Amino acid sequence: MKACIFDLDGVLVDTAKYHFIAWQRLANNLQVDFTEHDNEQLKGLSRDASLDYILKKGKISASSSEKEVWKEQKNNWYLELVNTMQENEVLPNCKELLSDLKSNGIKIGLGSASKNAALILTRVNIKHYFDVIIDGTVTSISKPNPEVFLLGAKVLDLQPNECIVFEDAINGVIAAKAGGFKTIGIGEKEVLTEADLVFPDLSSLNFEMLNRIV
Ligand code: G6P
Ligand code: MG
Repeated sequence: MKACIFDLDGVLVDTAKYHFIAWQRLANNLQVDFTEHDNEQLKGLSRDASLDYILKKGKISASSSEKEVWKEQKNNWYLELVNTMQENEVLPNCKELLSDLKSNGIKIGLGSASKNAALILTRVNIKHYFDVIIDGTVTSISKPNPEVFLLGAKVLDLQPNECIVFEDAINGVIAAKAGGFKTIGIGEKEVLTEADLVFPDLSSLNFEMLNRIV
């Protein structure tokens, strides 16, 4: 293990609940029902792919300018929520784990589809831990394509099998496995079936045990 590459939403911070509120608000405005199950499908997908999912569900065809307006609307609602985030909204053991990995010489990367990733890392004060940040501003293909993680490994000058990816979304787990990464699912075993190992959250993880089990 030479590097750990973390997804952001749902792994380091609990922003999935804010994405849910904002997507549900948009979907309901468009007369489309939007459930927790729908939200699960959107985890890890880009903003474009997420809107396409909702439009498909509602059998709505839209012009690209309409799509731009709706994406901006959703993002504004999302940002209203994100801008209230406090430093203590990192998930349990997040800072302790990042700090432990760093002091043991492990490189730390971010592999997120979000275009708001840098803002969120700054808001919760963990940006300084990262050696590389690959996010939605630099990727062109959404998870489950492995691009985001492969770019991270490339910038770190490492092979995928020297890096562990931490993911809470099925699309992200599939992406990491497709890229050849060791993959730790964060969430439920029944959902993250393709992951090498699954933990409910980061709370039991540290350098010593990760080094032992991977
Ligand atoms: C993450 C989340 C998705 C979100 C995507 C894009 O992957 O899991 O739910 O849609 O980022 O986020 P953004 O902040 O750019 O809209
Ligand atoms: Mg996620």
